[in-house]
Amino acid sequence: MKILVIGSGGREHALAWRLAKSERVQKVFVAPGNGGTAREPALENVPLVGIPELIAFVKAETIQLTVVGPEAPLAAGIVNAFEAEGLRIFGPTREAAQLESSKDFAKQFMVRHGIPTAAYETFEDPAAAKSHVDRVGAPIVVKADGLAAGKGVVVAMTVGEAHAAIDDMLSGGKLGAAGARVVIEEFLEGEEASFIVMADGRNAISLATSQDHKRLLDGDGGPNTGGMGAYSPAPVVTPEIHKRVMREIISPAIEGMARDGTPYRGFLYAGLMIDRDGRPRTLEFNCRLGDPEAEPILMRLKSDLVDLIDAAVDGKLDRTEPQWDRRAALGVVLAAAGYPDNPRKGDAIAVIPANAADCHVFHAGTTLSDGRLATSGGRVLCVTALGDSLRIARSRAYEAAEQVRFEGVQFRKDIGHRALRDPASRSSPGKKV
Ligand code: AMP
Ligand code: GLY
Repeated sequence: MKILVIGSGGREHALAWRLAKSERVQKVFVAPGNGGTAREPALENVPLVGIPELIAFVKAETIQLTVVGPEAPLAAGIVNAFEAEGLRIFGPTREAAQLESSKDFAKQFMVRHGIPTAAYETFEDPAAAKSHVDRVGAPIVVKADGLAAGKGVVVAMTVGEAHAAIDDMLSGGKLGAAGARVVIEEFLEGEEASFIVMADGRNAISLATSQDHKRLLDGDGGPNTGGMGAYSPAPVVTPEIHKRVMREIISPAIEGMARDGTPYRGFLYAGLMIDRDGRPRTLEFNCRLGDPEAEPILMRLKSDLVDLIDAAVDGKLDRTEPQWDRRAALGVVLAAAGYPDNPRKGDAIAVIPANAADCHVFHAGTTLSDGRLATSGGRVLCVTALGDSLRIARSRAYEAAEQVRFEGVQFRKDIGHRALRDPASRSSPGKKV
């Protein structure tokens, strides 16, 4: 069969690479793809982004399955448009994708269905928002309602910072329409984890556990980014916490979406804060795989991804259990000069390590032109390796990452540090997923 993957990041490179390993697959197209997908022998880039053009391409090529990577086309209704044409696609509809595209929708949904999350209020009026902050005090979190590519959340440690964030979003129009409404929520303490499942409208199966590093600098300092590295499994998600998350967050979410008339089909990512007592609360929902979490997770997937997605599209996930490599996987993101505020584009990538069975360089922001690779985005590469322990996976990933050469490259040297503090991850990952 032929498959189309939509998107151009590291997540889509990993998705397309994993799908192409299926014996059922004859060809995987990536629209628009990047320099890395262009170099993969089993993949082919197609320079299309508009929904009508994608539909025409899928019909002309008789593509049997389309998999959507990023949130923007989902929020724009790509799944609605494909389904209206009778085309098979994996991802949530526009209505279901509101779990990510509107923070206010997600918070109301969580409250309605008893899903644990931070207390919140929603505001459009800056004066009302500020007096709420004055009443509650800091630390407090200010979030733009709409999609803001990771730039819509301010964790304010002082009342002044919260006021400034409110001014930027509600009065300054810093985030455009996405910031015309803000959610102000309680500051939660604990350790974050990414909990990602596949859902078929009624059932959900969890993928291997993972954790990413959102801050730019070592020691979790500096500005927030889309993610500077990730690993799987995440020891913070113990089997007990895993059960709680499925029972208290994922199942009510899937059941709630079905009951509300917007059944959820697709990858669903719950960003969790796990407190000292092991109580998980939901920081956010994303309607897609995480990036860079997808890269280590998909390195560990042993089951056929086409079979899993087919089962999800057909509503048969209750009969499916994915198999995982017992080894750990860790991905290090190599970012461009100036990332995250003002990433420089067009730097030639002079050296890139060869892929191996236990190490793959997934591309995020690269282009390939006349055989030359160059940077074209903030996060450029995610070097991902497998190892018998997280420590070994980390050494292997860094050994490869350090070979990469492009002007201004920046990467963290401590990916995995939280997990490596955990004694359980120092030995083989055993049965943990
Ligand atoms: P979000 O996009 O909602 O996940 O927020 C981005 C980041 O902001 C999260 O990964 C957390 O590090 C932080 N954050 C969001 N909400 C809260 C909260 N209620 N309490 C503490 N930190 C938060
Ligand atoms: N790595 C965080 C995200 O994909 O949202």
